[in-house]
Amino acid sequence: MLEHDVLVIGAGLAGMRAANAARAGGADTAIISKVHPVRSHSNAAQGGINAALTDRGDDWEDHAYDTVKGSDFLGDQDAIEVMCQAAGQALIDMEHFGVTFNRDDEGRLGTRAFGGQRRARTFFVGDFTGQAMLHVMFEQLIKSGVRRYEEWFVTSLIIEDSQVCGVMALEIRTGQVYAIRAKTVIFCTGGFGRVFEPSTNALICTGDGVALAYNAGAELMDMEMVQYHPTTLAGSGVLISEAARGEGAYLLDKDGNRFLEKYAPNMMELASRDVISRAEQTEIDAGNGVNGCVYLDCRHLGEALIMEKLSQIREIGIDLAGVDMIKETIPIRPGMHYAMGGIRTNIDGQTNLPGVYAAGECACVSVHGGNRLGANSLLDTLVFGERSGNHAAEASRSVDYVEFDVNQAVRNEEKRIQDLLDRPQNGDRIAAVRLGMGDSMNRNLAVYRNEEGMQETLGDLKELEKRFKTVPVDNKGKVFNTDLVFALELGFMLNCATPIVISALDRKDSRGAQARTDYPDRDDKNWMKHLVIKKGEVGPEITYAPVSITRWTPEERKY
Ligand code: FUM
Repeated sequence: MLEHDVLVIGAGLAGMRAANAARAGGADTAIISKVHPVRSHSNAAQGGINAALTDRGDDWEDHAYDTVKGSDFLGDQDAIEVMCQAAGQALIDMEHFGVTFNRDDEGRLGTRAFGGQRRARTFFVGDFTGQAMLHVMFEQLIKSGVRRYEEWFVTSLIIEDSQVCGVMALEIRTGQVYAIRAKTVIFCTGGFGRVFEPSTNALICTGDGVALAYNAGAELMDMEMVQYHPTTLAGSGVLISEAARGEGAYLLDKDGNRFLEKYAPNMMELASRDVISRAEQTEIDAGNGVNGCVYLDCRHLGEALIMEKLSQIREIGIDLAGVDMIKETIPIRPGMHYAMGGIRTNIDGQTNLPGVYAAGECACVSVHGGNRLGANSLLDTLVFGERSGNHAAEASRSVDYVEFDVNQAVRNEEKRIQDLLDRPQNGDRIAAVRLGMGDSMNRNLAVYRNEEGMQETLGDLKELEKRFKTVPVDNKGKVFNTDLVFALELGFMLNCATPIVISALDRKDSRGAQARTDYPDRDDKNWMKHLVIKKGEVGPEITYAPVSITRWTPEERKY
């Protein structure tokens, strides 16, 4: 029998941090991941991690204010205070674990500027900070004695009498189905970027944890808040890090004008992401772009700086767009990047389901509100990963495993999977349904939204759900059946898509990443509240939750 006090699902930074904390707290801990841990999407975080270090004259309260303002005052201020106060220690811990952060001329940890912040407080490793942190965290995981289920795919969450019992999982290498009992489960499964096409997210970001939790009765929050990053590469949509603008790059229209002067005269290219993406889209729609893009200009930064601090994105530009940023401007546009919403949790990662936790991008604490600041994501994974692991370890001391019929559960799951494999071959292809969903979401729930477009996508999703029920799985084998995994992932993505659209339709104002052309103003009187969505008897049900305001009164946002 496989059983653990704490079972962490997902082995990115949040997952590994949670698992290490739970193990250090004395819990029998396991981590399960559909990919090898160092292939997790935290790898893709390029620009850095924010922390206000007092010996630099910085102050966590300034960081917290910038985060609150960046969130368009929808972030919960109590949670933001927790995150920003913990940032310094989280950063130093990573440095002590062995992350080789860039240093400044005096040999101290170096910083770069990032958007929406009044001072440079982003610590970094070139333009591959997440990758550097992920590898170091994996070393810590190996050292910790946490049991690892690598390349295992969680297919269901088991709840009995409102208490978590564990999960059902597929060992991808063998095709064998297992039940894993757990006293507590922590979802650290990342975001649902691939619900949109294109996206900066890895192909593995299919919202598995959000869907599993939602289907089991968990509340989701802020689902309408989907971040479009201002600089994604023309064509592929691959991320070109905000680090470029942090180092001083410009955004130019087709005539070479720095158009941000019109939208954010004080912060220019370092305004918050939602503001810059809207500015770009407005210029593109007005015919001031080229082929649906504007330009990122790094030429004046010089070859030495680019090779030292931006070498990865230079290679991306050369390989995927045929442009060398040392000599040429790069065509970029806003692209889906991050989910501010997710599984609703408190500051210890607890959800409304007893024994179920969430941390990282799949969770909504909510520290990002309507718009996340760049480089607050890595911070969120560490702070709330650790807090969830600590809490789950402590909680698992005082509960027993909940009994359930393990053999029956395995048989049920095997039958469900076999039914999927046995489908007739005449349905739509998995890829066709996936692209139909991604295109529709990107057409109508991107930088600008309106009722008509979102209703169209809601209709599309209903149709796609029907088509999904008959998608065939071509590969009937057991060993590394990635075709089967793709089919299960597509189901999870569709489970995430509808709550996003329903929430965005329900919110009748514009704030943060939600910019409605039919409700263009922020309406604090009626909409200064979180949207909470839950699976009801007949469909999704929306309720509202207050925003925590501790010390920063909402005001008009200007950059
Ligand atoms: O642009 C970037 O480097 C992305 C960072 C982030 O989303 O935090």
